[in-house]
Amino acid sequence: MSSFILVTGGTGYIGSHTTVALQQAGHQVLILDNLSNSSVSVLDAIAAISGQRPDFIEGDIRDATVLARVFCDYRIDAVMHFAGLKAVGESVQFPLRYYDNNVHGSLQLLSAMQTANVRTFIFSSSATVYGDPQFLPLTEDHPLSSTNPYGHSKLMVEEILANLYQSEDYWRIARLRYFNPVGAHSSGLIGEAPQGIPNNLMPFVAQVATGTREHLQVFGNDYDTPDGTGVRDYIHVQDLADGHVAALKHCLNSASELLTVNLGTGIGYSVLEMVKAFERTSDTSIAYKIAPRRPGDIAACWADTLLAEQTLGWKAQKGIQEMCDDAWRWQRHFASREKP
Ligand code: NAD
Ligand code: UD1
Repeated sequence: MSSFILVTGGTGYIGSHTTVALQQAGHQVLILDNLSNSSVSVLDAIAAISGQRPDFIEGDIRDATVLARVFCDYRIDAVMHFAGLKAVGESVQFPLRYYDNNVHGSLQLLSAMQTANVRTFIFSSSATVYGDPQFLPLTEDHPLSSTNPYGHSKLMVEEILANLYQSEDYWRIARLRYFNPVGAHSSGLIGEAPQGIPNNLMPFVAQVATGTREHLQVFGNDYDTPDGTGVRDYIHVQDLADGHVAALKHCLNSASELLTVNLGTGIGYSVLEMVKAFERTSDTSIAYKIAPRRPGDIAACWADTLLAEQTLGWKAQKGIQEMCDDAWRWQRHFASREKP
């Protein structure tokens, strides 16, 4: 059945891929984004892939007037909430900015939904809510903790959603805990376009491959992992997008739901394994130097994927070579477009 979905943050990295997946599943999309970390040109790229331009409102989720207009002008069936800030280091420097955007913004959105009687909500949470893993793979009932304002903002919104569900159980809520989203759309038309120096591994590696950056710093080679470097569960962003479509379907078919589920592959790869995979893809040599551990980093982290398979019938399909191939295609396309 076709539904009308409000996608906040829909011109961003994960939101744009999910918009395409929603359209391809037959849904209509309205994007609300303040363009603080994305470009309006993403709408053209989405239209080029799906053949359908999503409706778009440039606005902020903290703006109650804009939200009231959205819910008045459109018959929204469900909300996917990607809008937010996501850089851990920046959140330590500017905690109020993070709580304002991520917590206050989510509250404003949920209040507007309540007023408009829209009760289906899919939330972008993160594996960061597990803190330093006490066991692996991480199951959804692993104890929760946070070591920085970004992680804490995700935990707070998760708790707000649980409280809301307890108070009115006709809500249908999915709290999706992403592991490490990487890659880009296989068309090469949309992907991650970090501003400035990338914080995350894959965009940095891609920029070393194009020659934009001289070398990668590998943050620590003395972890208790097979090659000493950090291990993560990298998930292709298109698989992640499909996970959202599955979560939406699940919620729309439920009378009442509070689902908390990991979206990962269940497989961990080390920094050096990712570097090697990217070298194979790009046919370049990725220069790297071993650097001290990055403060706040954990040694290893990967998902238990059973609950996602059982409840959503969803399982990630793409492996690391595809993640690297698509990241590389996007990087070359994007990097060449950015040249004057
Ligand atoms: P992104 O920065 O590419 O996309 C976020 C989008 O939200 C951007 O287009 C930005 O302009 C918009 N936005 C930010 N604040 C807004 C506001 N107040 N009002 C309206 N629009 C606003 O980030 P992403 O990687 O696509 O992440 C999407 C969500 O997933 C975020 O909530 C993030 O915390 C979460 N998440 C991301 C990752 C990851 O590795 N990328 C991992 C776990 C969770
Ligand atoms: C980071 C965030 C996490 C967020 C996730 C997804 C931190 C401490 N954690 O996770 O909250 O949910 O991104 O956006 O920032 N690495 C290098 N060199 C680099 C960059 C990274 O060696 O230049 C290593 C890291 O030490 C880590 C791995 O690569 O072992 C992955 O790093 P990254 O992509 O930043 O993701 P996370 O640290 O898992």
